[in-house]
Amino acid sequence: MREKGHQTILVLDFGGQYKELIARSVRGLKVHSVILPGSTSAEEVRALAPIGIILTGGPFSVYAEDAPKADPELFGLGIPVLGICYGMQMMSAALGGEVLPCKVSEYGTTEVAVTAPCVLFDGVKSPMRALMSHTDYVAKTPEGFRVTAVTENCPAAAIAFDERKLYGVQFHPEVERTHGGKRLLKNFLYKVCGAVGDYTMDAYIESEVKKIRDTVGEHEVVLGLSGGVDSAVAAALIERAVPDKLTCIFVDHGMMRKNEGEEIRAAFGGRSLRLVCVDAADRFCSKLAGVTDPEQKRKIIGEEFVRVFEEESARYKGCFLAQGTIYPDVIESGAIGGANIKSHHNVGGLPKESKFIGIVEPLRGLFKDEVRALGRKLGLAESIVGRQPFPGPGLAVRCLGEVTKEKLDILRDADIIFREEMARSKVKADQYFAVLTSVRSVGVVGDFRAYGYVVALRAVRTSDFMTCEYVRVPYTVLDRAAKRIVDEIPGVGRVVYDITGKPPATIEWE
Ligand code: XMP
Repeated sequence: MREKGHQTILVLDFGGQYKELIARSVRGLKVHSVILPGSTSAEEVRALAPIGIILTGGPFSVYAEDAPKADPELFGLGIPVLGICYGMQMMSAALGGEVLPCKVSEYGTTEVAVTAPCVLFDGVKSPMRALMSHTDYVAKTPEGFRVTAVTENCPAAAIAFDERKLYGVQFHPEVERTHGGKRLLKNFLYKVCGAVGDYTMDAYIESEVKKIRDTVGEHEVVLGLSGGVDSAVAAALIERAVPDKLTCIFVDHGMMRKNEGEEIRAAFGGRSLRLVCVDAADRFCSKLAGVTDPEQKRKIIGEEFVRVFEEESARYKGCFLAQGTIYPDVIESGAIGGANIKSHHNVGGLPKESKFIGIVEPLRGLFKDEVRALGRKLGLAESIVGRQPFPGPGLAVRCLGEVTKEKLDILRDADIIFREEMARSKVKADQYFAVLTSVRSVGVVGDFRAYGYVVALRAVRTSDFMTCEYVRVPYTVLDRAAKRIVDEIPGVGRVVYDITGKPPATIEWE
């Protein structure tokens, strides 16, 4: 498969939780990868002409009635295959082997011993620690296969049929906890599939720039800058392709963090694209007056945002609409044929009545870390590309109860202090911020009674933002941040630290 000019590895999804990790690991090794449903037919695969196929794990037992199966003809295409966990069991069953329930299931890291030379294990130390997570195992390998590695409880931890380039591993080479896993994947890509390592950011930029130019032609492009990483990188890439045809609309709803609006203006003003900043803070604030229900607040902001953007973009009839949709948005929306986990507002094309003539989504094939790397390549400031996730409704969901300008200003000041102290401390955290609670408490300042807001600080570690742990921020850092917040911000009387994980809490407070 030479989509966009790259060799491609096809990752066929059988429901395993690591499919994105596999696809990202392959790309990290400079080979392009795409995820498609496990049900993709051999004919479709042949048409795509990948240099190799990886079958993911999955939560099924191969003999279960509803167990997903690969098209058996896949194994006769002459394309190298690596089956991982369920992928290996399913391939074995399809080719005449036998899969049985384990006497002892293996969960967690286990010692894997390589028992026969195999190209996959070139340069991999044996024994190695590897992540196993299975209740079935390959009890009899299909004809032509040989066992190349074992564990104490698994007589076939890796199998190979070298002549047909079919391989299977019962463990997960894609996770960090498997020692030598990256090397094993690299061996599969480069020594088995003949990868040349042609998937680089430069190559991506070059092919996307050409694609954008071909799509846009003589038309104009309009893009909504949200302040987040994705729309910013999409803007920089489109500007690279069609510098004088891009207009970026930045709707400032007044709920951005301190200096954020200025950072956007600094990053995108003075370039060849046209930046239109819409100061809609008063408009949003008045819509939110008296509203305390979190869902209601989100709804009002979402609707108002669409309204302002539509009003502003109304004058760009006959233009393309550009969006910062990224690959996980596409996967989650089921747009590639998988399960629809969550519909993304920006996946699914233009509404019928739209005045735009088409969509440009140049990040549609990229994972988040790739988007950041691309942004750096395109010269965007670290304050933009390294930005933490920030909710669409902005500080409104961190300003509990009614949102007022006074409360937003207090929150912005507390938030920047905490962020400065965290950044200075180099404590590892994936997201951290301040929350302005709607609680006020009594204190003393000098000889006077004070009655100020309670500010909560939150710092979390997470890789997927679906779950998180709170960060054990050292007391010295919390101490400095808390002192500065109460000293520097009139109206704050107390500072607390949130020590709740997700679940049961969420990362945001509303
Ligand atoms: P929760 O609070 O659900 O947040 O644990 C998980 C992650 O999502 C971010 N978040 C949002 N992002 N629009 C967004 O684009 C939203 O409405 C929104 N709400 C939460 C949150 O900051 C965290 O990273």
